[in-house]
Amino acid sequence: MLTTSPAPLTLQAHGVEMPALGFGTSPMTGSMAADEVVAALKSGYRHIDTARKYGTEHTVGEAMRLSGVPRQQIFLTTKVSHEYLRADDFAKSVDDSLKALRTDYVDLLLVHWPNPEIPLSETMPALAKAKRQGKARHVGVANFNIALLDQAIKLCPEPLICLQAECHPYLDQTKLLNAARSHGMAFVAYCPLGRGRLFSDPVLGEIAQSRGRSIAQIALRWLMQQGLGAIPRSSNPQRIADNFKVFDFSLSDDEMKRIAALKRANGRIADPSGRVSGGWD
Ligand SMILES: NC(=O)c1ccc[n+]([C@@H]2O[C@H](COP(=O)([O-])OP(=O)(O)OC[C@H]3O[C@@H](n4cnc5c(N)ncnc54)[C@H](OP(=O)(O)O)[C@@H]3O)[C@@H](O)[C@H]2O)c1
Repeated sequence: MLTTSPAPLTLQAHGVEMPALGFGTSPMTGSMAADEVVAALKSGYRHIDTARKYGTEHTVGEAMRLSGVPRQQIFLTTKVSHEYLRADDFAKSVDDSLKALRTDYVDLLLVHWPNPEIPLSETMPALAKAKRQGKARHVGVANFNIALLDQAIKLCPEPLICLQAECHPYLDQTKLLNAARSHGMAFVAYCPLGRGRLFSDPVLGEIAQSRGRSIAQIALRWLMQQGLGAIPRSSNPQRIADNFKVFDFSLSDDEMKRIAALKRANGRIADPSGRVSGGWD
């Protein structure tokens, strides 16, 4: 069932507050320039999403420095990828991330993808240890299904504050969202623009036109209005700025329902083995 809220600027989970709208830095194909992240910070984003796997941590670190925005005002997320989920590898990956980012801590450290070959009983204490050592202020997971989420919570000595997972109008994540909420976790939507697939959608186009907004703004507002977070990516400074302007209008109940009805069986972009469009993401 679709729930709707006034689109809060921040998400709350286990007493932690994080900016709902963040900036994604997966390079997809090619590279990412520090200018893009600087543009995001200058446009008002205070939540930046990166990952060891993306190869963009160094760029993000550089951009944070160039932007002049004080480190403590930025909610910085990084992730440990599936190959490094054994305790020793995990600790090294976190240290490598901090070095590349040129910071002493991240605000949120996520397990990027589960790995069936490495038991969660080894990974979750390693995640908690990074928090206890002050290398991560908060911890969470990405791409965990409901059963794995239950296990992870039981095995982690620290609270998991966030689940990051694919979510956009073409993919119904109601069950996963409800599971995250039942554990008091924030849900952050990745590929919130369907990685570009939403832009020719006639329903989104009609709503966007009637409101004088872009399709991206409509899709992001739809997520925000359900109380989700989202981390859109763009390489274009104007689109980066426009994507942040989603807090000054609202969608009607009817529009929310019409967008929810766009869900489809083949709407998923990231496949269950952790590959997105042919590459790890
Ligand atoms: N945890 C995970 O496993 C995982 C997996 C995938 C992604 N993520 C995170 O989620 C972030 C977002 O996902 P994503 O980058 O895959 O896809 P996305 O944000 O859904 O879509 C990005 C695409 O949309 C285009 N775009 C953005 N704003 C636009 C606008 N206003 N108008 C027209 N086109 C626009 C971009 O092109 P232009 O650059 O030309 O604007 C780009 O091609 C990633 O960067 C990453 O940080 C996490």
